[in-house]
Amino acid sequence: MTNLEPAQHFAQKTNSALTDGTFIRLVMSRPVSKELPQKIMARLVRLRGVPNLSLTLRNSTQDMTKNLLMPQVADWLKEQLGEAFRSALLCTTTRDWQFISNEAGVARLVDHKPSETQLLSQDHDKKAFGMLDSSAADWLHGLEILDRDGRVRASMADKHRQINHYLEIVSHLAKDCGWTESLKHDSPLRFADMGCGKGYLTFGLWHLITRLQKQAVRVVGVEARPDLVHTTNKLAKQIGANGLEFVQGDIATVKLPPLDALIALHACNTATDDAIKRGIESGAKLIVVAPCCHKELRPQLGKPEPLAAVLRHGLMEERMAEWATDGLRALFLEWAGYRTKIMEFVSGEHTPKNLMIAAVREREAFVDESARKRILELKLFLGVEHCALDGLLAECSRTRAQQGGPSKDPQTNQTL
Ligand SMILES: C[S@@+](CC[C@H](N)C(=O)[O-])C[C@H]1O[C@@H](n2cnc3c(N)ncnc32)[C@H](O)[C@@H]1O
Repeated sequence: MTNLEPAQHFAQKTNSALTDGTFIRLVMSRPVSKELPQKIMARLVRLRGVPNLSLTLRNSTQDMTKNLLMPQVADWLKEQLGEAFRSALLCTTTRDWQFISNEAGVARLVDHKPSETQLLSQDHDKKAFGMLDSSAADWLHGLEILDRDGRVRASMADKHRQINHYLEIVSHLAKDCGWTESLKHDSPLRFADMGCGKGYLTFGLWHLITRLQKQAVRVVGVEARPDLVHTTNKLAKQIGANGLEFVQGDIATVKLPPLDALIALHACNTATDDAIKRGIESGAKLIVVAPCCHKELRPQLGKPEPLAAVLRHGLMEERMAEWATDGLRALFLEWAGYRTKIMEFVSGEHTPKNLMIAAVREREAFVDESARKRILELKLFLGVEHCALDGLLAECSRTRAQQGGPSKDPQTNQTL
């Protein structure tokens, strides 16, 4: 028979902590049977403004979650303490309380100094939806990612995850660029999203910088299709998205202001190169591209030994063309003074086109001889005569000519 007094006392302490705002967490452990979860972790969350005790049931293969309304907590605790779990720890900002029961059911309650004194965030949305908390509901709903009840539509769950993941990446990159909340700028940051399509990631970017990071930003989405520009502008106006606008234009030629960041996600073929060039020319501190189709280099690729035997397979040749295109893009960006990073954008199970090149400007452009040489050597090795970013080489060669520099590379004999 369980000794009820410590259990009742523990339940009472939990109840008081939940009521007086000192509750931090509760953990149940040492289950009496293998059928029970190994552990239950409980924290206080607000769901649509209503306090709930959110339980994470830790099982050997997966976690399950369950939410209890406050009036349900006392009965739930009675069922658990000593009956299902032999240990429980209640952490409050003033004291920690530990319930311990032995195999014979003899229980005791001990208290300690608080192991932590900081209350946890009660924002359930943040935990479940990362960057896409409730403040994103207006545009997510407008883009039909959320249904009328604020739930993610099943057909849009991948897109929702993709936006979230993208915003996490961009938030790290923004930190890397020094765009933190504490740093106040004289004028708003200026971002361009080239080939923005329906604007999922453009609205996301604006949401991250304006609503989450509380910084002044002007985001312009550039899109070739006027119908998409019309609908995205309409939604921006409808939700009062200050600083967000969409313009119709071509990535290569659209008029752009000086930029802090240029982003181009899944812009087709060499539109990604046009975007990279525009980013470099506009002095962007940050350039982020997620290339899409890679058609330019494939017909040019040579089949140097010992790669020839592998490249006779069409699929391998295609992968090699992607590898070469994105590898050269990263090298060009490095030559233009950027520190580059190539990472996976979306999980490979959804699309093989999942690379992202992120570049942060750190050095003077086009002065690092070794960076330029790496481009020329790789092109020579791959048999690539022309790639869309060669314009940058020409640009540099003009500058060099004006400064009286050489016009041919002495090693490769390629035009500088
Ligand atoms: C595959 S969608 C990607 C949309 C968005 N960036 C995303 O990742 O969700 C590519 C978009 O880029 C636009 N686009 C392609 N080439 C373009 C160009 N040269 N100038 C402007 N828009 C372009 C297309 O119309 C299309 O809407």
